[in-house]
Amino acid sequence: MTLELKPHLEDFQVYRPDIVVLPSNNLVDEYAFSRVEEKILKNPYSVLTLATGSSPLGLYNLMIQAFQRRNLDMQGLTTRNLDEYWPLPKGHPKSYDRFMRDNLFNHINIPESQRYIPNSAVEDPEKEISRYQSVLKQTGPADLAILGIGPELTCHIAFNERGSTPDSRTRLVQIDPETIKANARFFDGDENLVPHQAITQGIADILESKEIILIAKGKGKAQGIQRVLEGPINSDSPASFLRLHPNVIFILDEEAGRLLEKPIQCL
Ligand code: F6R
Repeated sequence: MTLELKPHLEDFQVYRPDIVVLPSNNLVDEYAFSRVEEKILKNPYSVLTLATGSSPLGLYNLMIQAFQRRNLDMQGLTTRNLDEYWPLPKGHPKSYDRFMRDNLFNHINIPESQRYIPNSAVEDPEKEISRYQSVLKQTGPADLAILGIGPELTCHIAFNERGSTPDSRTRLVQIDPETIKANARFFDGDENLVPHQAITQGIADILESKEIILIAKGKGKAQGIQRVLEGPINSDSPASFLRLHPNVIFILDEEAGRLLEKPIQCL
């Protein structure tokens, strides 16, 4: 079922996100990092919302380098991850918890007590969802959210798949078959090993962030990016709800931005 935003349009103001298209993967990472570093230097106690997946990996590498080579201090930061598969045993090599430890947390100095992610191993997901909702409330709105976007035309953010509404909150969701197919690459190419459910922050949780960066790379993201930025704002394209936020920047490589028609800002 498609939920059109139209009946509620008067409740929302629509904005035009900033769009930056850069000629290489590395430049995307460097530009995203410059925005994150600026935020950390301005407020070392910033609250960050973080994504997993391949899109933010280069950014995380640059954060690690900045900590290890230039002592960029991150011990005041609080992080709240967007999502986690459910169920997966604790410490599962493909869990997002493990991804964050391997690719960021084990190499920088954010204390474990200031890092939050849904628990993939709980028996009762509803209890875990309440806990995570309290975490989001207690730690306050994020100063900066780092997002990726789902493959092809899923246009998901976090695990808010097609059908998600702008008022959605942290909840248990079914993962879209298209996403399962794309994420099988993290599970030795075997779709059957990818969990079919996840606990995810909702669209409303994400839109509470003060500032949002979305990173997209590669031609597999081009159609989705075009739809999100130039198509209708509705539940068929959950990332299109980012156009209801006044402070969003899309950082794209040329492949991801190649179908955009309207004049765009290239640094
Ligand atoms: C994961 C998340 C997802 C990914 C998206 C893109 O925490 O929030 O929405 O950002 O599936 O994944 P990659 O970056 O692997 O293409």
